[in-house]
Formats: sequence, C-alpha cells, structure tokens
Amino acid sequence: MFPMRCAHGQVRSRRASRRARTNDDVDGYFGEAFWNERYRAHGAVWSGEPNPQLVSEASDLAPAAALDAGCGEGADAIWLAERGWRVTAVDVSTVALERGAAAAAKAGDGVARRIEWLHENLTSWTPPESSYDLVSAQFMQLPREPRDAMFRRLAAAVAPGGTLLVVGHHPSDLQTAVRRPPLPELFFTAEDVVALLDPDDWKIVVSAARPRGATDAGGRPATIHDAVVRAQRLRARR
Ligand SMILES: C[S@@+](CC[C@H](N)C(=O)[O-])C[C@H]1O[C@@H](n2cnc3c(N)ncnc32)[C@H](O)[C@@H]1O
Repeated sequence: MFPMRCAHGQVRSRRASRRARTNDDVDGYFGEAFWNERYRAHGAVWSGEPNPQLVSEASDLAPAAALDAGCGEGADAIWLAERGWRVTAVDVSTVALERGAAAAAKAGDGVARRIEWLHENLTSWTPPESSYDLVSAQFMQLPREPRDAMFRRLAAAVAPGGTLLVVGHHPSDLQTAVRRPPLPELFFTAEDVVALLDPDDWKIVVSAARPRGATDAGGRPATIHDAVVRAQRLRARR
C-alpha cells in the first residue's frame, strides 16, 4: 500500500477500504499494476511539457482551484500551479505521482506547495461536488464503461461558472500509422463527451476534433486528432 502522507508536495492516499468497481475489476490490463509497470519501464514516459489543448484552453482562465484527473508525471499540474492555480492532481499510479511530486519540488516551493498529489482510482473515486473551477482530464482512455461514469463524476465536481476540459485521442487516430493500442473502445469523440452533459447545466464552448502534428511508428510526420471538449458549468438560475 502506498504510504499515507499529507503534506503538500507529497502524496495522499484514501484508497484503503473504499474499492467499488475499479479499472482492475473491469480489466486488469488498465489498472494500477499496468500503469506502475508502464512508468517503471521508462525513465520518463511523457515529455514534461503541458498538454497543448490545456495551454490553449486554460491560459485565459483566472487561477483558482483545479483538479487534474489522471495527472501522470505532473506536467499539467505544474503548469497550472506556476500560473497560480491550487491543484489536486490525481492518478492511479504511485510511480507517476512520485515523479510528479519530484518534478514539482524541482520547480520550487511556490509551485510544490500549490499541488496536492492524490492516489485514487478515478473509476471509483468521487471527487467533491461543485468544488473545482477547472477540472481537466487529458487522455483518460478507458472503455466506455467506466469512462462515461467517470466523466459524469468529474463534471459534477465542477463549481458553478467553472470549466470542464476533456481531451482524448480521437477514434480517427486508428486510421493512421501512429502508435495506438488496437482497442477502439478506448477512443472517444467530443460528441461522446458532450452527450453526457445536461444542456440545461452546461454551455459548450468547444466541441472539436482538433488536428495536431505527431510522428508515426515509422518516424514520419503524421496528423492526429484530439477530441476536445471545453464546457462551462452554468450558474444556478435564481
Ligand atoms: C495517457 S496517460 C495521461 C497522463 C497525463 N494526463 C498527460 O496527458 O500527460 C493516462 C494517465 O491516467 C492514469 N490513469 C489511468 N487509469 C486511471 C484511473 N482509473 N484512475 C486514475 N488514474 C488513471 C495513468 O496512470 C496515467 O498516468
């Protein structure tokens, strides 16, 4: 079990006894052991740069409280904290969280103290409702169930007036030569995500398949697409 440590810049676990239906139950392939092994197999899995869709969609938001769902090695959380956000960074992988906390410490105390690293499985964890001014989920590629339920819980965690940003690999990437797991159920469109949001409660700011330059498995330049949903939770009507 991952150690329970609560100071900022360290990692907190609340998983001990609350295990409902998790990734591991759905398919061992996607669970904590899978991700820890994937991270341990490499020095650094991701670039260390914030995701481009986060940068383009969140740069104009006033910093407040953010939830980074599936934070990986922490580049997005650190980018947000550098801009003044208080970030709760959640991941199922203890290895990723330790790397994120180490990278935040390197970025300086002003950044590290703004980030809480939380060890949770997003297929079962319910974030506090109406609590975050930004909830960002970048590349949470899960089967439709539990994915839809997870996105609904993340949406419910957005405070009135706040922003939900969901970005994922678009199904059309499977028609390219970029490296993608041959598992179509892991891919989703912006429309799939928008369909989960009650139109009475949300203003859809962006719903798009956004092209992005990449390198394919043969080292050639390729164009991939990110499914991007940016939605603003409407304030309660009086
Ligand atoms: C494709 S990576 C993306 C990481 C980061 N968001 C980024 O874009 O660089 C997916 C991340 O989600 C985490 N993850 C996958 N399933 C999860 C779950 N059920 N609960 C929490 N984190 C999960 C993985 O450990 C991994 O760090």
